[in-house]
Amino acid sequence: MTINHPNFGAMDEKRVIIFDTTLRDGEQSPGFSMNIDEKLRMAEALAALGVDVIEAGFPIASPGDFESVNRIAQSIRGPVIAGLARSAPNDIARAGEAIRPAERKRIHTFISTSPLHMKYKLRMEPEAVLEAVGKSVTLARDFTDDVEWSAEDGTRTDMDFLCRCVEAAIKAGATTINIPDTVGYAVPEDMERIFSTVRERVPGADRVIFSTHCHNDLGLAVANALASLKGGARQIECTVNGIGERAGNASLEEVVMAIRTRQDSNPYVSQIETTRLLRTSKLLSTVTGFDVQPNKAIVGRNAFAHESGIHQDGMLKNAATYEIMTPESVGWQKTSLVMGKHSGRAAFRDKLNALGYGDIGDNALNDAFARFKLLADRKKVVYDEDIVALVDDEVVRSNESIKFVSLEVWAGSKDKPRARLELEVDGVVKTADERGDGPVDAAFNAIRAVFPHMAELQLFSVGAVTEGTDAQARCTVRLAEEGKSVDGQGADTDTIVAAVRAYIHALNKLVTKRARTAPEALSA
Ligand code: KIV
Ligand code: ZN
Repeated sequence: MTINHPNFGAMDEKRVIIFDTTLRDGEQSPGFSMNIDEKLRMAEALAALGVDVIEAGFPIASPGDFESVNRIAQSIRGPVIAGLARSAPNDIARAGEAIRPAERKRIHTFISTSPLHMKYKLRMEPEAVLEAVGKSVTLARDFTDDVEWSAEDGTRTDMDFLCRCVEAAIKAGATTINIPDTVGYAVPEDMERIFSTVRERVPGADRVIFSTHCHNDLGLAVANALASLKGGARQIECTVNGIGERAGNASLEEVVMAIRTRQDSNPYVSQIETTRLLRTSKLLSTVTGFDVQPNKAIVGRNAFAHESGIHQDGMLKNAATYEIMTPESVGWQKTSLVMGKHSGRAAFRDKLNALGYGDIGDNALNDAFARFKLLADRKKVVYDEDIVALVDDEVVRSNESIKFVSLEVWAGSKDKPRARLELEVDGVVKTADERGDGPVDAAFNAIRAVFPHMAELQLFSVGAVTEGTDAQARCTVRLAEEGKSVDGQGADTDTIVAAVRAYIHALNKLVTKRARTAPEALSA
C-alpha cells in the first residue's frame, strides 16, 4: 500500500524525509542554546537547505521556547513545522498552540517505553503507558492531522510491548512512528531488525512513515540511521553538525551525503540542496559559538584538504583518486578574491547572493557593508570566507541590547595594558577605561565596568578565518552564571576587538537566558 501522508501526500518508496531537530534536540546540548532571532535565522537557513521538517522546539519547556516555535510557525514557509510534547494534555495543547500559524504543522509527542525508563523515570506501569500513548495521539490529532509518536528509549524496549504501543499510536491516528535510539546503544543490525520486525508485525504499519532518531554515544548514529532505512524507515531525524544531547545526534550533512554518494548501497532520495550544507553548518557554528572539529566529515576544515605529497600528486592527476565527492557539491568554493575597497553596496549585495544569503534585512546589510569597507581598508585581500564571517557576525547580533561601539587599547611590554571601551546599552552609549594583565583582560574588565555582571569567564579561544597575518581573528568566549553557560563569537582583523565582540555576544545571550526558565527538567 502507498502511504498517503497528510503533509507529504503519496510517498515514493525511495523518498527519505529529512527531519531536522537542530533547534530542539540540538539546542538541548550544554552551551548550544540560541535566542529567538538566532533560531529564526537558523530556521530560514534550514528551509533554504530543503529540510522537510523543522522541529522548532519544545513549547512547554519555557515561554522563550514557546515563542520561538510560534515565531518560526508564523514566518517560515516550506518545511513542516513541528513542536515537541510529552504525553500530558498540557504539553500537547501548548505545542498545538505554538504551531498553529504554520502552513504545514506537526505535533511530535513521545513517552518512554523501555522497562528502565517506565520504572525509574516515569514510575508508571506498562499498561498505563499504553493507555497514555492512545490518549496523547488522539488529543494531538485535535490540533493537526500530522502527528508523530515516539517511543523514547525504543531500542531498549521489549519488542512485544513496542509493537503494542506502535499499534495503539497508529489506531489513535499517528501518521509517523519514530523509534529512537535515545541513549545511542544500538548497533546497525539492531536498527534494521527493529524496524523490519515492527513493520511486519503491527497492523496498519503500511499506512504510516517510520522514523529513526539516533544518538551518537558509540559514534554509530549515522550508520544506525542508514541501517534503519534498510529496515523500512523513511524519515531520518538529524541535526546540523550532529549537535544534540551528550555525544549528539546523527549529522544531517553526513546522512545526506552518504545517501547521495553511495546510491549503490543506499538507493534513496532526499530533497536537500547539498551545495548549501557548508553554509548552514557555518551559520550554526557562528550562532552557537562552536566550530566543528577540523576533521569533521563534509564540513570540517580538513574534509577536502590533501596534505601528503602522494595524495597531492594523485589529486593533480585526477581528483577522484582521493575525493569521493566534489567539495563544490557540499558548498566548498575555490578560494576566490573578492571585491576591494572601491566596491559598492550593489556589488556587495550581489556577492552576498552568490554566497547563498537571501535577504538579510537592511540593518544587517548596512552594518555588514560598513564593516566590509573597514575590512577592505585594513586587509590586503578580502576572501569569501572573510565576508561570510563578517555577515554572519552581523546577522546574529542585529537585535542585541548590548552593542559594541569602539575600542582603543594601549599594550606592550612596559606599562600595564589599558583599554577604553564604548558600548551601547539599550540605546545609551557608555564608556569605561580599565587596566588588566593583558590587553584582552583590560578590555574584558572594561566590559564589566560598563555592564556589571557576575558571570564567570570559562573559556576564551582564538582562531583565524583565513590564512596570513592580516587574517580576521574569530574568537569564542564562554560565560557561566548559576550553572548555565553560553558561548559567544566575534570576528575582526583586530584580535582584541574580535574578543570583545565575542564577549558581548555571550553577554547578550546570558541576558536573554536569564528571562527563560530552565528547560533541563523537561528535556527529552
Ligand atoms: O532521543 C530521544 O528519544 C528524543 C525523543 C524525544 C524523540 O529526543
Ligand atoms: Zn534525542
